[in-house]
Amino acid sequence: MSEWSALLSARAEQGLLRVQRAHAGPQSVFLQGPNGQRWLNFCSNDYLGMAADPQLVEALVDGAQRYGVGSGASHLVCGHHEIHDRLGAALCAWTGRDRALLFASGWQANLAVIDCFCRAGDWILQDRLNHASLLDAARLARVRMHRYPHADLHSAQQWCRDDRPVRMLVSDAVFSMDGDLAPIQELVGLATSQDALLFLDDAHGLGVLGSQGQGWAAQWSQQACPLLVLTFGKALGGQGACVLGSAELIEWMVQMARPYIYTTAMSPAMACAMLTSVHMVRHQEWRRLSLQSHIAQFRTGCHQRGLPVMNSETSIQPLMVGDSAKAMAISQQLADLGIWVSAIRPPTVPRGTARLRVTLSAAHSAEQIAELLEALDRLWPSELRQG
Ligand SMILES: Cc1ncc(COP(=O)(O)O)c(C=O)c1O
Repeated sequence: MSEWSALLSARAEQGLLRVQRAHAGPQSVFLQGPNGQRWLNFCSNDYLGMAADPQLVEALVDGAQRYGVGSGASHLVCGHHEIHDRLGAALCAWTGRDRALLFASGWQANLAVIDCFCRAGDWILQDRLNHASLLDAARLARVRMHRYPHADLHSAQQWCRDDRPVRMLVSDAVFSMDGDLAPIQELVGLATSQDALLFLDDAHGLGVLGSQGQGWAAQWSQQACPLLVLTFGKALGGQGACVLGSAELIEWMVQMARPYIYTTAMSPAMACAMLTSVHMVRHQEWRRLSLQSHIAQFRTGCHQRGLPVMNSETSIQPLMVGDSAKAMAISQQLADLGIWVSAIRPPTVPRGTARLRVTLSAAHSAEQIAELLEALDRLWPSELRQG
């Protein structure tokens, strides 16, 4: 047996093998299997039902017809298009920032920020539950990292000492696997007291929270939160990301950010679609109202049935299980009932906190939320119920 098959077998025995389950239709509240199966989808990050919205599809097609499919080069060669600037300007107007820098993915944007503003050996503070891309960015930048207990700014403050000056304080604004909100006011206070750069990643708050969906983090000023990453693969229904900040910080990134400089620019057709998406998400308040009503319905239903829904006000409404194999079994039982909810296991979440990451969308109906609640009630083990 090769080294790799032995390692794969070990993962399988621990119930940790990941599998790709293909679907064959558009991203929507229903997912179609390649053999005609159909699942009700409760695990997408398409929180506002944008991914297959006809107006957005039309904008992508229109962009491709006008500008072609590929950008052809990196931004600093000849891949930078005026549609990128128009999208950046729309994002700045939405979030009250001076300048935006576009990336083909949030992963790249996070790598770029930490690499650009920290030097090897600098100290950075990160919430223990930050997204993998932020943790990996720190590793690649060869900084020294302290991971403070989740949302515990008192503990983070206690850790700080004069001989460990903090260059950067980093947090998800909405935690991707828990759905809870970062204590931004406290983060701003700690960053200010340590003279550190505050960097927030609001991948999951954009479109969902804040006035006109500007997100959780952008409710704080650029001065309070100088570096902000937003991603387009969630509520905006597309792909890509941006870093927002002052003209000076963004100019430094243009000069120095290797994940910006050495990669093909985002497709101009996608930029065209995202420009339309920003406009729709910003002004179609009905999407947020619909989502809010589904969140309230789901949470009330969970509480009534003793289902252990975690403490979250966002589209991410995880149900705690604990054991990975049990989480997988519940996910499979739901799939057999025609409902797709992914089980999230370590190392994505801490050991012993495997969960079903239920996500809700504006595009669901109240009947579909009721169907999910009934299915959960039917199969949820009594020893995992609350109250
Ligand atoms: C908090 C957070 N940041 C960044 C990313 C990465 O963004 P992208 O999918 O655009 O690479 C994700 C998830 O994908 C995320 O959940």
